[in-house]
Amino acid sequence: MSGGWLAFWDKPHAIYVNVRHKDVHYRLIAAEIAALVPSRQARVLDYGCGEALRADVVAAACAELLLCDGAPSVRAGLAARFAGDGKIRVLAPDAVELLPHHSLDFIVLHSVAQYLTTAELQSLFATFRRLIARGGVLLVSDILAPQLSAAADVEALLRFAAVNGFLLAALGGLARTLFSDYRRLRVRYGLTHYGEADMLQTLAAAGFTGERAAKNIGHNQARLAFVARPR
Ligand SMILES: C[S@@+](CC[C@H](N)C(=O)[O-])C[C@H]1O[C@@H](n2cnc3c(N)ncnc32)[C@H](O)[C@@H]1O
Repeated sequence: MSGGWLAFWDKPHAIYVNVRHKDVHYRLIAAEIAALVPSRQARVLDYGCGEALRADVVAAACAELLLCDGAPSVRAGLAARFAGDGKIRVLAPDAVELLPHHSLDFIVLHSVAQYLTTAELQSLFATFRRLIARGGVLLVSDILAPQLSAAADVEALLRFAAVNGFLLAALGGLARTLFSDYRRLRVRYGLTHYGEADMLQTLAAAGFTGERAAKNIGHNQARLAFVARPR
């Protein structure tokens, strides 16, 4: 499943309906992640970070920011964009596996879990448990609850678009999505959904104590977020 989705993210796609959408998306995510960084000394990992256009905002709030994405072309773009930022390093998933134990204070997994099987997420949480420092924090966000419909995602996007001045482009983008690879992959592989109890149990099985956060990161408050700490 994740191989099919990764191939999608590794190629040009139209998930962001225009430049304005991509810009406001990454600004919002970066500002909200930066606000959750536990301290200026924190070593932070954003796993499955995508293009992370405003990673500089997160880097400014911490000591070191590791950006990891499974798609090689996304990593190449990140490496080029942040080559001049001494606080930011771009890593492949294999390199994350090799990081020293307990070397990270804050790990973010935002809008990634839905593209992984449950077994893949369990394995990733085991890696995070090894890497997280005592007292560190894991944020798992943009989780699709079992009852969440595609219509709820559409409604959230249209509200976000209306407030940020790209409503017409969003309507056009949604029409294009109906005929896109994203739609074909969604039918073929699906997206993995988690209820609150399922996610808390998956975190617990990996050695984390989690709780549902009051608010999701990003524009879609119909999706769930969890904050977890190592037991
Ligand atoms: C929906 S995007 C989210 C990007 C970013 N976190 C955000 O919210 O803007 C999902 C990202 O997860 C990455 N991804 C998917 N499966 C992955 C995996 N198994 N390992 C690492 N990255 C993965 C994709 O390449 C893609 O960039």
